[in-house]
Amino acid sequence: MTAPGVTGFQWRMPVDVRFGAGCASEIAGRLGERSAVVMAFEPATALGWRAQWTSDLGHRLRAWVEVPDGLSSMARCREFAKQVWPVLAAEPDTVLIALGGGTTLDIAKVLRCRPVEAEPRLDQLVDGRRRTHPAGFDRVADALRGTAPWPALDLAPLWMVPTTAGTGSEVTRWATVWDTDVEPAQKRSFDEAFGFADCAFVDPVLTQSCPAAVTRDTGLDALSHALEAIWNRHANPFSDVLAVSAARKVLTWLPVALCEPANADARSALSLASLEAGFAFSQTRTALAHALSYAVTLEQGVPHGLACALWLPTAWQLAQGRDERVDHLLNQVLAALDGTPGTSHGAQRLQTWLTSVGVSCDPASHGVHDAEQRVMAALSSPRGRNFIAA
Ligand SMILES: [Fe+2]
Repeated sequence: MTAPGVTGFQWRMPVDVRFGAGCASEIAGRLGERSAVVMAFEPATALGWRAQWTSDLGHRLRAWVEVPDGLSSMARCREFAKQVWPVLAAEPDTVLIALGGGTTLDIAKVLRCRPVEAEPRLDQLVDGRRRTHPAGFDRVADALRGTAPWPALDLAPLWMVPTTAGTGSEVTRWATVWDTDVEPAQKRSFDEAFGFADCAFVDPVLTQSCPAAVTRDTGLDALSHALEAIWNRHANPFSDVLAVSAARKVLTWLPVALCEPANADARSALSLASLEAGFAFSQTRTALAHALSYAVTLEQGVPHGLACALWLPTAWQLAQGRDERVDHLLNQVLAALDGTPGTSHGAQRLQTWLTSVGVSCDPASHGVHDAEQRVMAALSSPRGRNFIAA
């Protein structure tokens, strides 16, 4: 029997999560005798992390693959597969460790999916004609595009070590893969049960390496995940608690981290907020703001978190006043914003906060001149339909 007003729900979270300052240093010990391939964001070398990890992992480190900044695109996954898959094929127990932000983590999710049958082969007769199965990454690409089922896979053990506080990818089953091989480019969603990492090490100390813009935009992504979990048709009592806690932490601590990048309390709070929001939206998925964000990122090159945040006041305005649960939760979020109870002018108060961290919520300032039409179209998109006001 459920509590009054609470409908039944499921909760699946298979990721073994470790959180805490310095916890990334436990990885070498946890690895035991297994070997590892590290996919790392490019600055790891200049930060001295590559040298440290190379020393810690010793003979177990089979390859260190640098991931330069950029989109998590199909084309890049294809190139990385040439480096990573031969190493994974040589030793099937090799752990793929992703060290970086959302792009690195998302690419690693795709790279763990190595087809058992890596070489092209002539298939049986189909409709009277012989067909050749594509080789290696082409088979993964076809699955990502939805034009073919997933081939049999040798899934590499995947450990994730986020260096930003925002993506939540370390605790979700999906990844964004931009298909720039087609015209116009399209967003492909990797969304599979095998998208969950095996382990996540969330170490707030690592986020001190983030430049201010990355700190802000990833913090805005976490805020977006939290709010989108609240005004979501798939919300449940656990996601509500986590989402409110996450949103309140971002609103309180992001301005502090921007002023004091080395503030350990702020970094810890933001990493925890990102994890909480990640847990929440791993169950609810995203909603209207994310649905609207992707075109802005693709067309204007606006970073993901910023591209989401600029739509948050619009979504807030639409969400408020429709559902007692949502209003109650937004009220709790607003109390952290300015200490004033009540949801009146909530969207405006959020916009004021966003302005204070340097975000313009005028879509035109981001090159978007048909905002209203986009909102209407997004409300009927798959993510938009998760939105409580759709
Ligand atoms: Fe996001």
